[in-house]
Amino acid sequence: MSDPSRWPRSIRLLHWLGAAAILFAFALGFAMVNLVDDPGERFELYQAHKSLGLLILALTAARLALRFARAAPKPIVTIANWRRRGAGTMHIVLYVLTIALILAGYAMVSTSTLPLPVALPFGFTAPNLFAPDEAVSERLKQAHHVLAAALALGLAGHIAAAIKHHFVDRDETLRLMKPF
Ligand code: HEM
Ligand code: HEM
Repeated sequence: MSDPSRWPRSIRLLHWLGAAAILFAFALGFAMVNLVDDPGERFELYQAHKSLGLLILALTAARLALRFARAAPKPIVTIANWRRRGAGTMHIVLYVLTIALILAGYAMVSTSTLPLPVALPFGFTAPNLFAPDEAVSERLKQAHHVLAAALALGLAGHIAAAIKHHFVDRDETLRLMKPF
């Protein structure tokens, strides 16, 4: 039975799986672009980053579908309505930025003049949906970069809010999202 005083278990599990995968994709993206010089190693990290990105898209789609299907927990009475609405808006912004970031990354590699297939599980690859165009690909790279920075900022705020709820306000916000 689902417990209306917590987030549904499926959403809690997908939240933390998604959080770990997104934070790892950030670390991978940053390291492969800025820290790794060896071309072979760089190539492997790029391929892993792209596959992980598409996996996160699938996880996010599943999570969004569940969010529409399952009820959120009962509101915490000590949190003002306007704050609750603010948190809800922030969650929508996080979803939109995550999906836009992934689509920009995918469109960037699809329009590259050296399009390399994105590996998917079980030997499948993602099809290249767009014609190669270096100028468009370069713009999409900039968009991916800006969207990554915007999502990092949004997540910093999101995580800071969770920490504040737990340690300063001492309310149940974080506990309701506990994975187990
Ligand atoms: C790693 C540190 C993180 C912490 C401590 C954290 C904490 C939380 C908490 C406590 C909630 C419940 C908020 C509420 O009831 O108003 C929540 C919800 C949410 N979080 Fe996080 N979160 C983290 C990472 C992420 C990441 C990486 C994302 C990715 C975009 C994310 C997206 C969301 C969304 C969209 C919700 C709304 C519920 C849902 O649709 O799953 N969080 N988070
Ligand atoms: C949530 C998922 C993703 C996150 C968090 C993410 C994050 C990042 C970050 C932080 C960088 C480094 C940016 C920089 O320092 O300039 C990067 C670069 C890159 N990402 Fe992603 N990314 C994601 C999904 C994707 C996807 C789905 C693809 C393609 C299928 C992709 C392709 C790339 C490529 C090719 C680069 C290198 C761009 C360059 O050479 O400057 N990313 N990503």
